[in-house]
Amino acid sequence: MSEIEVNAANAFRRYDDSPDEDFYESPRLVTHIDDAAIAAVTQVYRELFPAGGSILDLMSSWVSHLPPEVEYRRVVGLGMNAQELAENPRLDLRVLHDLNKEPALPFADAEFDGAAICVSIQYLIHPVEVLHDVARVLRPGAPLVVTFSNRCFPTKAVFIWQALDDSGHGALVSRYLQWAGNWENVEVLDRSPGGSDPLYAVVGRAAAVSPLPRKWERPG
Ligand SMILES: C[S@@+](CC[C@H](N)C(=O)[O-])C[C@H]1O[C@@H](n2cnc3c(N)ncnc32)[C@H](O)[C@@H]1O
Repeated sequence: MSEIEVNAANAFRRYDDSPDEDFYESPRLVTHIDDAAIAAVTQVYRELFPAGGSILDLMSSWVSHLPPEVEYRRVVGLGMNAQELAENPRLDLRVLHDLNKEPALPFADAEFDGAAICVSIQYLIHPVEVLHDVARVLRPGAPLVVTFSNRCFPTKAVFIWQALDDSGHGALVSRYLQWAGNWENVEVLDRSPGGSDPLYAVVGRAAAVSPLPRKWERPG
């Protein structure tokens, strides 16, 4: 793949801009980061998601990485592949939904006590709209945990992601939350286990329900 020059017109484009339903048509029953990095994801969830709460796993697959010893009232998974979601034993409800076609979530205001996006934020072409709506479906003060490592499906990751390094990714996701306008207490955590895949988390807390502060103009 040749080097790309990222600019305002192509920042949220991808090498493969064909419909996501084609790319995700076949199930991938694999893990995308190694065991130590998965354990780091699970530990952040253990610290931040309230036991007994209602949890939303966005861009979900056959594993949600939630701590096995913790019971939640309800876990909802939203993703692109029905078989991946069907194989996920943590899910009480499985929702097929293309966030790149429709960034608005099919859930009620303040329905969840925590939300997760694991190793997938780089595939969103409307991240600010999606994250704005994630705050809407969380109760005020509830956490969102966006985790990422240093690998991805390169043809499906937006160009701006590919132009940045790990610390740039943390800054970018923090900016998404800032631009969404309804997040508070945003922080970037480096939970890299060492000797394995790096693992970072951007954590924000949902602010009270509010409209987008200004029109978000997608470049291009
Ligand atoms: C790299 S996998 C990560 C899966 C899971 N979160 C994990 O931690 O293993 C990317 C996931 O993002 C989901 N995804 C990709 N594009 C999406 C879209 N446009 N709308 C909703 N989900 C999407 C896919 O269903 C896929 O399962």
